[in-house]
Amino acid sequence: MNENVVWHHATVTRKRRENMNSHRSVILWFTGLSNSGKSTIAHATEEQLHTRGCRTFVFDGDNVRHGLCADLGFSREDRDENIRRVGEMSKLFVEAGIIALTAFISPFRGDRNRVRNLVQEGDFLEIFCKCPLEVCEQRDVKGHYKKARLGEIKEFTGISSPYEEPIHPDLVLTTDTLSVEQCVDKVVDLLRQRGVINITANS
Ligand code: ADX
Repeated sequence: MNENVVWHHATVTRKRRENMNSHRSVILWFTGLSNSGKSTIAHATEEQLHTRGCRTFVFDGDNVRHGLCADLGFSREDRDENIRRVGEMSKLFVEAGIIALTAFISPFRGDRNRVRNLVQEGDFLEIFCKCPLEVCEQRDVKGHYKKARLGEIKEFTGISSPYEEPIHPDLVLTTDTLSVEQCVDKVVDLLRQRGVINITANS
């Protein structure tokens, strides 16, 4: 970073934005294999929160790779950079008072921990969408697993590239046994427990 670049402090602070929103801002970081349910659950959670008057935004791996990260592939270095950019972007959204939900495979523990360390304690909630590879492969919504098995897609997570499971996630969702609604309920409960939102179950 250039030493002549100086941070400018906003007068409209995160706290003021949070007060206006009547909820805290936070990063809900969904991680897991392709087809483990990250995007589906992130969007369904957003739907719930939005309906209850929360300010939210979902960042989705496939979408972000069409724009901000369109120059990146799936090598170790490119995935590191993908997660670094998304982490920095999510941090800005937290400053903006928003509940940022991210749905990226983010297979490397080090990358996820780097994002956790970018923000204050409690601002990063890691949600592990835990689903056996066989189930994800069976779902194969986009046909990627088939191609990966045939060697037509290189470095595919779970097949030819590793996935490092979280050691101490804030929440584990076993998406092969729970319904989407049950998963959303668990995420909303977590947000209540951590004091992000204080809306009651039926409000
Ligand atoms: S990450 O590893 O850098 O976090 P990200 O979540 O952004 O990945 O993108 C994953 C999406 O890219 C998958 O849902 C899939 O549609 C697509 N994709 C294409 N090639 C690969 C690959 N080699 N490994 C994993 N996903 C891939």
